[in-house]
Amino acid sequence: MIRSQVTFNRLPSLPLCDVVFSQDPFNTPNRRRNRTETRVSMEKGGLDFAGREFKNAEEMWREQLGEDHSKKTEWYRQGVGYWEGVEASTNGVLGGYAQVNEPDIMGSEAFLKQLLSERFPGATNGQRHLVVLDCGSGIGRVSKNLLIRYFNEVDLLEPVSHFLETARESLAPENHKVSDMHKATNFFCMPLQEFTPDAGRYNIIWVQWCIGHLTDDDFVSFFKRAKVGLKPGGLFVLKENIVRSGFVLDTEDRSVTRSDLYFRELFRQCGLHLYISKDQKGLPEELFAVKMYALTTELPKKVHRTRSEVQANRPGVIK
Ligand SMILES: C[S@@+](CC[C@H](N)C(=O)[O-])C[C@H]1O[C@@H](n2cnc3c(N)ncnc32)[C@H](O)[C@@H]1O
Repeated sequence: MIRSQVTFNRLPSLPLCDVVFSQDPFNTPNRRRNRTETRVSMEKGGLDFAGREFKNAEEMWREQLGEDHSKKTEWYRQGVGYWEGVEASTNGVLGGYAQVNEPDIMGSEAFLKQLLSERFPGATNGQRHLVVLDCGSGIGRVSKNLLIRYFNEVDLLEPVSHFLETARESLAPENHKVSDMHKATNFFCMPLQEFTPDAGRYNIIWVQWCIGHLTDDDFVSFFKRAKVGLKPGGLFVLKENIVRSGFVLDTEDRSVTRSDLYFRELFRQCGLHLYISKDQKGLPEELFAVKMYALTTELPKKVHRTRSEVQANRPGVIK
């Protein structure tokens, strides 16, 4: 998916979406407008990498999957088939952008630390036994560079066997030991659309740079099923490429890059609530923007501030 962004950005015509963008255009204080926009987000048009236009997501999915979804198996076969031809290395899973690894991990670490300290007090000083699932883990890049340092147990799920075997090897205690208290436990060789986690196993289910391979229906049913896998207070973290508007279809690796509003509509359908979101900084300019979402199954508590607290935080005015 990272590979594709570069190809796409070189395309001369970008008629429907402003595909190269830098800031989150939807972080506007005008919430009422956002709610309306969310409902119509999937009505927005999109493109494929050849610059072909789709009227809306429904038209694109109908074409890709067939009226009766009879081409869905082919969609997933080609998606996994694409990655089966990719070298099992950081450069491979990052589409030739190995240099993205460092800023990506740094951005994720800051995000994760905030989540752990707010949602699992005592987590950062080893007072809790924490378990994470790394979805679409590839070669275990995120698990090895980040998750295993914070979680006592890391499970990896990845449909491409040569990626998962590389992950298994590099996370083996003799090759990568953080401490006796931290280990990679399970390696599931399967795609997300077929996976259901064990009930109550995970503090965090981390989904990075792979959800674009799932159709909208499977996106929603995956998150609905996976909710049972979360411990009380648990979260999903979704880290993904974002387009400004609508979507972009990659017909080579069978993936869809969605807009922020498109994602928000899917979260609504999943019955998930946005806890926090953050833009990833420091990536090469030619790549898509990347956003991190933390999602909860319960409505986040509102921060109630008293009138005096609000007043106290106002700058003083000299009259
Ligand atoms: C861009 S790589 C990202 C790998 C890893 N998350 C990372 O950030 O290093 C995309 C990964 O998604 C995996 N993938 C493709 N289709 C998938 C599916 N249906 N379910 C889960 N993972 C999938 C690929 O095999 C590949 O490992």
